[in-house]
Amino acid sequence: MPYRRKTVRHLFIREKHPAPLPRRESEKVDRKTIIKTDKLSKSFSVSGKQYHIIKNLDLEIYEGDFTVIMGSSGAGKSTLLYALSGMDKPSLGHIEYAGKEITEMNDDQLAVFRRKHCGFVFQQVHLVDSMSIMDNAISTGMLIGQKQKDLKKKAAALFERVGISEEMTDKFPAQVSGGEAQRAAMVRAVINDPDVVFADEPTGALNSAGVEAVLNVLTDINNEGQSIVMVTHDIKSARRANRILYLEDGGIKGECNPGKYVSGDKKRHEMIRGFLEEMGW
Ligand SMILES: Nc1ncnc2c1ncn2[C@@H]1O[C@H](COP(=O)(O)OP(=O)(O)OP(=O)(O)O)[C@@H](O)[C@H]1O
Ligand SMILES: [Mg+2]
Repeated sequence: MPYRRKTVRHLFIREKHPAPLPRRESEKVDRKTIIKTDKLSKSFSVSGKQYHIIKNLDLEIYEGDFTVIMGSSGAGKSTLLYALSGMDKPSLGHIEYAGKEITEMNDDQLAVFRRKHCGFVFQQVHLVDSMSIMDNAISTGMLIGQKQKDLKKKAAALFERVGISEEMTDKFPAQVSGGEAQRAAMVRAVINDPDVVFADEPTGALNSAGVEAVLNVLTDINNEGQSIVMVTHDIKSARRANRILYLEDGGIKGECNPGKYVSGDKKRHEMIRGFLEEMGW
């Protein structure tokens, strides 16, 4: 598997960008691993039949990276994100987070770990219906004992950045659009300044202005040092990544390392498009 991954990437880089790109091997020396999987497998049993979705995956996610995971529908992207973030337990294998094994943790320990280190934007939004979108957004901060007043101020600024005015934030999830709910979930995910933000198609329900606003927040917090792991089907969203992984058949088929996002960099966009074409996307 590593051989295949390396081959695809090098082929791609050699053809399209010979000299200026950093080589993966030298990057690896300087970069700190934040999440590491060891033979990670996830299977589901349906009507007595086993479906092996993630198979023996060895993967490292680097600190400070904006990592994007792509692949066809049903490839297992959400499954992988759930496992990497400790939301779901793998069937086999291990996951280390900053050198600490999370696979051995019980549910309570995992909950504390996630609250401390992770932010989540799910494919389905999962807001609490009985709470305003503001209260939803600050709920993760309240859980770790931050002051409500400070959280509200911070959340209001974040809401504004994603195009939701402060008076709108008194509404309940049933009173807002899908895109507004998704942006509220985004604010909730980043309110605690988590080390890693896991986002599963965070722009799926948004129009193009909303997409840009959410991506800008993710890019900004990434530039401030937080790591992002985002699943997307959207090439525009994928361009924000400095590393794109392509998931197929339970493993990483290939990866592309275009460097940090630069708005309007056509060469970079072509590189990503070429990579995705090569992956059969
Ligand atoms: N709880 C579950 N029980 C049984 N099968 C499941 C379960 N969760 C996911 N699967 C199956 O695992 C496969 C991968 O699902 P997953 O949601 O990870 O795909 P995905 O790559 O995120 O797809 P999409 O792009 O459509 O969101 C699918 O075939 C799905 O039906
Ligand atoms: Mg999914």
